[in-house]
Amino acid sequence: MTDKTEKNKIIFIPALDGVAPVKSSISLPDTDKGMLFLRGYPIDVLAEKASFEEVIYLLLFKEFPSQRALENFKELIKLKQNLPDKIISTLESLRTKMPLFNIMATAILSLAEFDSNIEDESLKANYDRALTLIAKTPIIIANAIKLIKTFEIKYPRQEFSPLVNFLHILGVPINEEMKRAFEVGQILCCEHEMNASTLAVRTAASTGSDIYLAISAGLSAFAGIYHGGASRFIIEMLRQIGDPVNVQKWADKKFASPNKKNRIIMGFGHRVYKGQNSDPRTAIFKKWSLRLAKNRQEKILLSTAETLEKYIGEKKNLCANVDFYFALVNHFIGFSPELSPLIYAMARVTGWAAHYIEQFYDPESRILRPRAIYTGPENQKWVDLKNR
Ligand SMILES: CC(C)(COP(=O)(O)OP(=O)(O)OC[C@H]1O[C@@H](n2cnc3c(N)ncnc32)[C@H](O)[C@@H]1OP(=O)(O)O)[C@@H](O)C(=O)NCCC(=O)NCCS
Repeated sequence: MTDKTEKNKIIFIPALDGVAPVKSSISLPDTDKGMLFLRGYPIDVLAEKASFEEVIYLLLFKEFPSQRALENFKELIKLKQNLPDKIISTLESLRTKMPLFNIMATAILSLAEFDSNIEDESLKANYDRALTLIAKTPIIIANAIKLIKTFEIKYPRQEFSPLVNFLHILGVPINEEMKRAFEVGQILCCEHEMNASTLAVRTAASTGSDIYLAISAGLSAFAGIYHGGASRFIIEMLRQIGDPVNVQKWADKKFASPNKKNRIIMGFGHRVYKGQNSDPRTAIFKKWSLRLAKNRQEKILLSTAETLEKYIGEKKNLCANVDFYFALVNHFIGFSPELSPLIYAMARVTGWAAHYIEQFYDPESRILRPRAIYTGPENQKWVDLKNR
């Protein structure tokens, strides 16, 4: 750091490690206890007992609904899940080459067109938009995928929730156990404090952008392989390893790679949870993987995963993060690997919406605007074009 930056009180904290730019009452990863709390409730209790709609309600409205309020809330969400024809046309027109995350972001941004008054900044209007986004995103993603595979749109059934419609549209044959595993996945993935994508959402909210723009900013930050994109590689990686006996050789070869990027193993490590067994969501997904793995192939994949988790933990003191067994759960349910990040993002829309609202209506909110340590040349002299 130069003298000049010290005088201007710029503090260099690479990658914002350990920095809290905002206060929040939404979630708390308690790294000392290896726990995660949503609005004060432990994640394992929510995964055991709550429906996803209850968790959506909790994150948005800060309390659990009564039975009657929950029924009304479920009906409201169902009413919001249909896609306008223009969004369907957008999905149809984008189907050919665009990556699914880009299609998802485009459709989410396009929903602004169907907002009766985008200028309305009331809390009520933003709650309504949040619920619209939560209800429609599963239908957008399922149809974007379906269009690629079958060139057809499938409409949601009004009596189903968006999550059930997601399965219905994709035609994944699913039993009750898998259905609950899928719902638990949404609960475990819906919110996690100030990660990169949530920071992007809150940054957009702090500038006064609308919720559609803010959620698509979150999605853009989420899609990368170091964040939400990681889960799509895990099944392929485990298949490559092939068997628990190959784990050590495979991992050692990976760690010996001269290129730092190639040494990274997807589904391991975390900015907040340090050391093995530290991400509380991992154990819950692991338990579900054990329940869902039925045939010989699935069991080999799972024991390869467990052996890898143990080896990486011992050798590098890195935890298997949320993505690792999440990818296995999705695989055992019957989703293809590239869907895992989208299923994750679909859950996270709820957390992003809660953060958008918290930031937008915080009376103490200021624009999120950090600094950079300047490393470029100084006092350059202008040279006319003809003399360059
Ligand atoms: C999540 C992640 C981006 C966190 O990054 P981070 O906070 O900057 O990582 P850390 O500072 O804890 O890394 C400490 C060391 O462990 C290494 N490391 C971290 N994750 C690793 C992984 N998955 N595989 C191999 N090495 C890893 C880092 O390269 C670093 O090594 P160095 O000290 O030699 O430079 C990173 O762990 C990662 O890329 N994981 C794989 C992608 C993934 O699963 N993402 C989903 C996150 S929920």
